[in-house]
Amino acid sequence: MSADLMADGQAAVVPEAGPAGLAARRQLDRLWEKGTVFLGSELAILGGAMSWVSERHLVSAISNSGGFGVIACGAMGPELLEREIAATQALTERPFGVNLITMHPQLDDLIRICVAAGVGHVVLAGGVPQASAMRAIKDGGAKVIGFAPALVMGRRLVKLGADALVIEGSEAGGHIGPVSLTVLAQEVLPYIREVPIFVAGGLGRGEAILGLLEMGAAGAQLGTRFAASSESVAHDRFKQAFVRAAARDALPSVQLDERFPVIPVRGLVNDGTRRFLVHQAETLRRFQSGELTREAAQLDIEHFWAGSLRRAVIDGDVEGGSVMAGQSVGMVTGIQPVREILDELVDQAVQALLLRDSRVS
Ligand SMILES: Cc1cc2nc3c(=O)[nH]c(=O)nc-3n(C[C@H](O)[C@H](O)[C@H](O)COP(=O)(O)O)c2cc1C
Repeated sequence: MSADLMADGQAAVVPEAGPAGLAARRQLDRLWEKGTVFLGSELAILGGAMSWVSERHLVSAISNSGGFGVIACGAMGPELLEREIAATQALTERPFGVNLITMHPQLDDLIRICVAAGVGHVVLAGGVPQASAMRAIKDGGAKVIGFAPALVMGRRLVKLGADALVIEGSEAGGHIGPVSLTVLAQEVLPYIREVPIFVAGGLGRGEAILGLLEMGAAGAQLGTRFAASSESVAHDRFKQAFVRAAARDALPSVQLDERFPVIPVRGLVNDGTRRFLVHQAETLRRFQSGELTREAAQLDIEHFWAGSLRRAVIDGDVEGGSVMAGQSVGMVTGIQPVREILDELVDQAVQALLLRDSRVS
């Protein structure tokens, strides 16, 4: 028997691995088999694409450690993406995916680059994809993963030909929908069985992943924990901000007036998020005084965050930049190698299965 610390600081007695541990690991492998077969990876854990963070080093580290890395194309053009894919392929022979934003003006070219490079999985994010984009990916021999922020959207994506779905709860870092993973999982998992579904948002421990696998998920997608890994190229100040933060520090952006919508983004509260409120109030005043048209005011609000994720991730401006982070940031307790993070997640799921078996017998 070994001791593991529970949340209240008390030691929980956990059975050691051994034959029982191997059996529990096999049980986990059976639970996420649909996910591992689909991804072609050892573990059904995706490293969710993160703009500026999910590049060759982090993506290859995740895939080389048994998970499934995903390049964030973000605003990259076709040439840059082509180079990033080639550089990642030079670092890993294992499968990885590419995340494309559906409203990218060169989406068709980006899809051609992915297909020509032999990328096996393309994740389409940021809105409902056109049927033609999905067809181009599938005709090129790659699989399409779509984002389903609600059951109705999941069904529509499956009808359109999505080969798998990600359901991402509002606990996640970055751009978010309004519904938590706790609710989305109940709304979607029992009703869509045709394709593998990966769950995301606020996940930081293996026990939680196990629970969702048992509800029917095929695997999980994590971002925040990997952003703070040793292999992540994020600035040390960005990673240290994650280590210091608690779940309650990762809040969605606030919209001041419903006439001027703000896309909700979850990140660490800082000087930038406070100045954003002042900026919205000032823009509103200028609109009301007739100084700005409605369109100009909306653009003014949207431009506030331009380039701010890069400033935080690459330049380390964690006070003025956009420090996107999920509520799972509270479970980042240090800067760890990717392999250690993945081992920890698997071990926590296995220990949970063992503990349950020891209670039953
Ligand atoms: C810094 C950061 C940047 C992100 N950028 C993107 C992105 O460019 N495209 C995307 O689809 N998701 C993006 N995400 C969401 C992740 O892919 C992932 O789904 C999410 O982080 C999962 O929730 P978690 O942060 O609680 O692990 C981002 C998340 C973070 C933390």
